[in-house]
Amino acid sequence: MTFRSVVKGCGAYLPEQVVTNHDLAAIMDTSHEWIVERTGIHQRHVVEDGDYTSDLATRAARQALLRSKIPVESLDLIVLATATPDDTFPATAVTIQQKLGAHAAFAFDVHAVCSGFVYALSVVDNFIRSGQVKTALVIGAETMTRLLDPNDRSTAVLFGDGAGALVLQAEEVSSKDKDTQRGVLSTHLYSDGRFRDALYVDGGPSRKTMGYLRMQGKEVMKHAVEKIGDSVKKALEFHKLTPQDIDWFVPHQANIRIINAVAKYFSLPTERVVVTVDQHANTSAASIPLALAAAETDGRIKAGQLVVLEAMGAGFTWGSAVIRW
Ligand code: ACO
Repeated sequence: MTFRSVVKGCGAYLPEQVVTNHDLAAIMDTSHEWIVERTGIHQRHVVEDGDYTSDLATRAARQALLRSKIPVESLDLIVLATATPDDTFPATAVTIQQKLGAHAAFAFDVHAVCSGFVYALSVVDNFIRSGQVKTALVIGAETMTRLLDPNDRSTAVLFGDGAGALVLQAEEVSSKDKDTQRGVLSTHLYSDGRFRDALYVDGGPSRKTMGYLRMQGKEVMKHAVEKIGDSVKKALEFHKLTPQDIDWFVPHQANIRIINAVAKYFSLPTERVVVTVDQHANTSAASIPLALAAAETDGRIKAGQLVVLEAMGAGFTWGSAVIRW
């Protein structure tokens, strides 16, 4: 018996506090024009004092459960993608489990920074395919603004906070309908630790410091389009699909220049690309589920459509996923 992980519902949460480029220009040496031209970002949501990654994640998860009409007691697995856990341990997924009251599940975190959601989706999909798990919650949630150095304008303007979640459930694959049946069709993951210094936080529990995010922006930019493009190309080849078969391209939302360059490489019209970077900035592992939730809520993404996800982040880590929604 083979199973497929079918998307039953998605949810999102963005903190109420919005910080515009103009707000940042009032406190650091930057401008709205510079940020928009280099990144496409207009504003970002910033977590309120007293709220943590688990709070954002729990709100997104509740919405995903409500929309999927799946009771919390049915959850077998919770996987959280985050680079900004509440505490060093326990895993923030366990805190979310407690807040949700999902006592029948087992829960853990996946850490792949901006690629985290694609990695977590892959982990959940493999548990479901193997038959070990029937119903799972996969969440991307971040409080990235807590890692920003206010004195480093080259990174302080790029990131925002938020959370997105998907409920996935196992459905048996019938061999006759396997090309049209809904669910996660594949995930492709990659990493290359030779680039660990291009994007990192200069602190952590083993170093006994908290640290700030550090990035060689040009180095990231140089590799992003090539690595993302390659992972999407491999995914399409794996399924014998062409870019024309993609109904919705939902990229990690780091920079509009990266998104546009990848879309151009595949000749994808902008109408089939979901963009939220202007409103959310880079929310790391939360950016893809936030974009999915936005595009499903406003009726763009519909059941049966082919959705392609991609991400690249610190490590470098990168990857893609193909979903029949
Ligand atoms: N406001 C105004 N000026 C700035 C700012 C700012 N916020 N930040 C940097 N500058 C200045 C620099 O000091 C530099 O000035 P100089 O020429 O006088 O020395 C000038 O702008 C150009 O700086 P660069 O770093 O060369 O700017 P660049 O065009 O490379 O853009 C950016 C910087 C936006 C970070 C770009 O490199 C980039 O987008 N890289 C991709 C990285 C990314 O998106 N990372 C997100 C995380 S990784 C991921 O999610 C894939």
